[in-house]
Amino acid sequence: MDITELNTTARALVAPGKGILAADESSGTIKRRFDSINVESTEENRRDYREMLFTTEGAGDFISGVILYDETIRQKAHDGTRLVKLLEDEGIIPGIKVDTGAKPLALAESETITEGLDGLRERLAEYKDLGARFAKWRATYSITDELPSAYCIAVNADALARYAALCQESGLVPIVEPEVLMEGDHTIERSFDVTSAVQHAVFDALAEQRCAYEGLLLKPNMVLPGYDCAQQATAGEVAEATVRCFRSTVPAAVPGVVFLSGGQSDEDATARLSAMNELGPHPWELSFSYGRALQAPALKAWKGDTANLDAGRAAFLHRAKLNSAARYGRYTPDMEKAAS
Ligand code: 13P
Repeated sequence: MDITELNTTARALVAPGKGILAADESSGTIKRRFDSINVESTEENRRDYREMLFTTEGAGDFISGVILYDETIRQKAHDGTRLVKLLEDEGIIPGIKVDTGAKPLALAESETITEGLDGLRERLAEYKDLGARFAKWRATYSITDELPSAYCIAVNADALARYAALCQESGLVPIVEPEVLMEGDHTIERSFDVTSAVQHAVFDALAEQRCAYEGLLLKPNMVLPGYDCAQQATAGEVAEATVRCFRSTVPAAVPGVVFLSGGQSDEDATARLSAMNELGPHPWELSFSYGRALQAPALKAWKGDTANLDAGRAAFLHRAKLNSAARYGRYTPDMEKAAS
């Protein structure tokens, strides 16, 4: 394993003022996103939409890397240029989602285990040839009074570490994504306890399986009350709870933490990240790897119409810029008004 190369890539992905765009929606997920704007999810439409995002001039000032889906890493733009090349030309590092989805966990009602380990070494080698320099694997955990079970936490930690070890062996930086879901009426304290337990298990498994903390990134949920909790939290409260949780669970050798947005509004995802960075300096970079919170305005502006490509790019660039400000703790809500 070349730790220096892995560390260099990991640090580039959390370079000052930059974060990651998650554009790795599976076929089912992108269909749901397109349904929301009444656009059919065809291969061509998916290509057009992602080509729009990847040809946003100046995006490389705020976006360090893009997570692609298997279809996208192989696709070409209208003029025949590979989409991966478009990213590289903008100074953006291509990455790839390599899990094959969260499936029902046997003998565990309502819990999931993420699949995709069989043949992964060979798939990683192919993705590396196609230009990927980092990868992503997502595990999910639901909160109820009883869940997640110790069983679910243990098997997902094991799978995340097996994936991470294979990535590091292949020279790809693993983004390790244990996502504690926001569905439910649990309190922020309960989210704190579950997120702590999940992350302790993940970092124990990573150490046991000989992964180098210097050569990976963590992609976690923020510590948040459930969507249906009566007691919602301010950006400051979320920042305080999240940073307190991570100081006890995330080793200082990890170069960065890149949050998922997980269904928060665009503004909340940006404001909460900014509030966390205001509390710094921290042992690790605190950045973003947003899907919905970076793409929602661009998707709405595009509407599947080529006449709206520039509007879609402007909406994406604006959101990227606001999240870049949040990397320095400098986001303020009035910056939203400068929207294109
Ligand atoms: P969201 O930011 O929309 O949660 O997507 C991030 C992601 O990559 C989920 O796996």
